[in-house]
Amino acid sequence: MVVVVSLCFVVFSLAGALKVSIPKPEYEHARGDNITLPCNFLPKGKPPMVIIIWTVNLGGPSDPATMILTRYPTSTDVPPLYEGRASLALDIAKGKADLKLSSITLQDNKVFSCRVQIPGDDEGKLVDSVRLVVLVAPSKPVCALQGTAEYGQNVNLTCLSAEGSPTPVYSWEQRDVRNTPRLRDPRTTDRGGILSLYNISMDTSGYFICTSKNKIRSASCNITLKVLPPSMNLGSSAGIIGGVIAVLLVLALIILICCCCKKRKQREAEKYAMATPEEGAFADKEPVGNGKRRDSRDEEERSEYDRRVITDDRRVVDDDRRVVNDDRRVVNDDRRVDDDDRRSDYTARRSDYDDRRSDFDDRRSDYDDRRSEYSDRRDRYDDRDDRRRDDRRRDDYRNESDRYDEPYDDAEPARPKPPSVPNNKPPRDTY
Ligand SMILES: *[C@@H]1O[C@H](CO)[C@@H](O)[C@H](O)[C@H]1NC(C)=O
Ligand SMILES: *[C@@H]1O[C@H](CO)[C@@H](O)[C@H](O)[C@H]1NC(C)=O
Ligand SMILES: *[C@@H]1O[C@H](CO)[C@@H](O)[C@H](O)[C@H]1NC(C)=O
Ligand SMILES: *[C@@H]1O[C@H](CO)[C@@H](O)[C@H](O)[C@H]1NC(C)=O
Repeated sequence: MVVVVSLCFVVFSLAGALKVSIPKPEYEHARGDNITLPCNFLPKGKPPMVIIIWTVNLGGPSDPATMILTRYPTSTDVPPLYEGRASLALDIAKGKADLKLSSITLQDNKVFSCRVQIPGDDEGKLVDSVRLVVLVAPSKPVCALQGTAEYGQNVNLTCLSAEGSPTPVYSWEQRDVRNTPRLRDPRTTDRGGILSLYNISMDTSGYFICTSKNKIRSASCNITLKVLPPSMNLGSSAGIIGGVIAVLLVLALIILICCCCKKRKQREAEKYAMATPEEGAFADKEPVGNGKRRDSRDEEERSEYDRRVITDDRRVVDDDRRVVNDDRRVVNDDRRVDDDDRRSDYTARRSDYDDRRSDFDDRRSDYDDRRSEYSDRRDRYDDRDDRRRDDRRRDDYRNESDRYDEPYDDAEPARPKPPSVPNNKPPRDTY
């Protein structure tokens, strides 16, 4: 009787024991996805109340569990670590207590456990676990060329995705310049995303496409290989550029030298023109207006040649006058007595000189008038005017020289002591 009761109890217990199950031991999902981890339970009868507890740990038997969610009959408790990410899809009638987890990350690569507690139904399988594998799609790979794309060279084409879990596998595909697929050279090797090309030639040129792939997704990149003859490298381009720059520099130097020469010539000419008026005793003979007149001449930009001719003429006159002056100095020693007379003579000459200056001014205004009148024929006029003025001035100087001579001629007969003049005195007529 005891045995029968016991047997009946065992049968009843087995039929009424709680059974919690998760269909698969492992689920794979891509990072960032919103996922559902299923949990089924079969209660003994119609349960008065059900408590659901989802926990997570690293998977080891002794690893401590972390609470994700507890569902009491009247409330659901989610700790801060999973707040907003975890929720429960509960259907007691169907025996479903699925965990919904949004935006999974690599940190969710763990073992999740589903525990069901029913009062009075605490035998059977109360807990089941599932491993979540969070995968990462391969990031877009980067294709690159190692080496020099020249005839006869060996180069590597590299392909690498920054991330991917599981680790992506790489494969290369070739297309010729017309973008039609072609078979790879038997010497080509493809290891871990590095495609090695040996003894490349123009025929090696084309498109190379790398695909990075793992169990959830794939991504690809491509590279265009253009194999060139060795002469078309950067060095020769640099040589050409350098040559052009050198030619430009030489040209610049030549231009600079030309400018310098021109400037120096100009400077010398200016120096010469400036030095001339200071040189002669002539300056004290010139009326004040003469400076202005010379300035105006500069403004009119008369040719250097004309000025030089004038200057040369003046210099000849200056030399004459200097000789005369020297001569006069010799005579002066003998003529101290005549000083008073000669001083008065000087005064007379100065008034004469003033007269000439006013005459000069008149001529200048006359000249100005005529210039405005014949401005259109200035060049021709200037030549004529210069010549005429030079002649006129030369005449003036000649007259002046004569006038200088006059006092001696006059004074000599009036001299009180003629014998004091040395007998070897050079004859005046030579001048
Ligand atoms: C995941 O769920 C969140 C809301 O919880 C939503 O904003 C997001 O777009 C979902 N992502 C995907 C991949 O469905
Ligand atoms: C290409 O890669 C191989 C190893 O994969 C290396 O030994 C070789 O030096 C590389 N060649 C170039 C041009 O980078
Ligand atoms: C490289 O290829 C050229 C033809 O493209 C061939 O003449 C030469 O012998 C090759 N060199 C090597 C080292 O294989
Ligand atoms: C090569 O890559 C570029 C972007 O990197 C893409 O637009 C193009 O379609 C690719 N070409 C091929 C043949 O895959």
